[in-house]
Amino acid sequence: MKIIVTGGAGFIGGNFIHYMLNKYGDYKIVCLDKLTYAGNLSTLKDVLNDPRFAFVKADICDRKAVFELFGKERPDAVVNFAAESHVDRSITDPSLFLNTNILGTATLMDACRNFGVARFHQVSTDEVYGDLPTDRPDLMFTEKTPLSASSPYSASKASADLLVLAYYRTYGLPVTISRCSNNYGPYHFPEKLIPLMIVNALADKSLPVYGTGENIRDWLYVEDHCKAIDLILHKGRTGEIYNVGGHNEMKNIDIVKIILKKLGKPESLIKFVADRKGHDLRYAIDPTKISSELGWTPQTAFSEGIDKTVKWYLENREWWEEIISGEYIEYYKKMYGVKS
Ligand code: NAD
Ligand code: DAU
Repeated sequence: MKIIVTGGAGFIGGNFIHYMLNKYGDYKIVCLDKLTYAGNLSTLKDVLNDPRFAFVKADICDRKAVFELFGKERPDAVVNFAAESHVDRSITDPSLFLNTNILGTATLMDACRNFGVARFHQVSTDEVYGDLPTDRPDLMFTEKTPLSASSPYSASKASADLLVLAYYRTYGLPVTISRCSNNYGPYHFPEKLIPLMIVNALADKSLPVYGTGENIRDWLYVEDHCKAIDLILHKGRTGEIYNVGGHNEMKNIDIVKIILKKLGKPESLIKFVADRKGHDLRYAIDPTKISSELGWTPQTAFSEGIDKTVKWYLENREWWEEIISGEYIEYYKKMYGVKS
């Protein structure tokens, strides 16, 4: 099987490429990535010389480049991770999110139609459902929950999902969609909560917690997400959406305290800062469909996953030190200002 993986130099796409090449000795993977600030070739350094792997630097919005690549490679499947993925950046500058996340997805699907690709898988997010109240633990997102995006990021992902389903109905394009909760693990860019807190704590910098820190996210170890996508790709029904999440709801403030404890750093590093605009209160995924139809269950408990993650950041300083030395410094100043 030959798969084009877009956004494979990013966090989840990079983990997915490693996972698939380890699992399937005879698969070929072509990674298409623009290498934005969030894409790092060092994430793929272990596989760059693997004859089963190829890297192509291109923008998923660049129709000519995308069609040329598809014409040359003739993939069996496409898994689309490529996206602008950070909610805070979408609040500052929505337009980039609309281009990449919506128009880029359409361009990839046009190429799939043109070259008869047997599967287009869209990696979506639980954020398309909006948020849930914190005092109703019985409520969870199912695949039938109405779309109700809060941020420009989630609105762009919801728009892309609608387009994917429209291409299925109108053109019969064989699509699947996964909507996953918050991932954590190796190669996570240190602008997102968990890696940011680890990196700041290691440098004895303050840990900026938005609002009261009571917001809840449903955390899943990234390898469990990769396993879910692998299953959907091979066994999922086309035209279907699969929610992915491991029933692991946690308050932001509790996560931050766990990280501080693991690193032996004081809670006095925590700094409550201004809240995110439109901040979603709580996410919680009901994964009944993927569990009952495809037999997916998460394998990594949070206690184990967070240990592995902290250990990875301690052992791979060069990976993140390189990242936080570039454009990141400007971003950090703009985002957190004197609050850091
Ligand atoms: P990321 O920001 O770490 O990586 C995104 C990758 O896409 C980068 O390598 C970047 O260079 C590439 N990219 C961006 N714009 C591109 C373009 N125009 N053309 C080609 N490549 C481009 O993101 P992530 O956290 O790995 O998320 C991957 C996907 O999973 C996204 O679609 C996101 O919406 C979705 N998702 C993420 C999470 C999460 O917790 N991180 C959870 C659910 C779903
Ligand atoms: O739910 C899936 C989504 O999870 C993905 O679709 C997104 O791509 C991914 O970025 C993530 O979105 P979140 O907004 O939930 O993740 P983030 O790590 O940015 O924030 C997690 C929580 O932590 C959120 O409630 C905001 C809070 N936070 C975040 C940062 C960066 C802070 O309190 N301080 C911070 O500095």
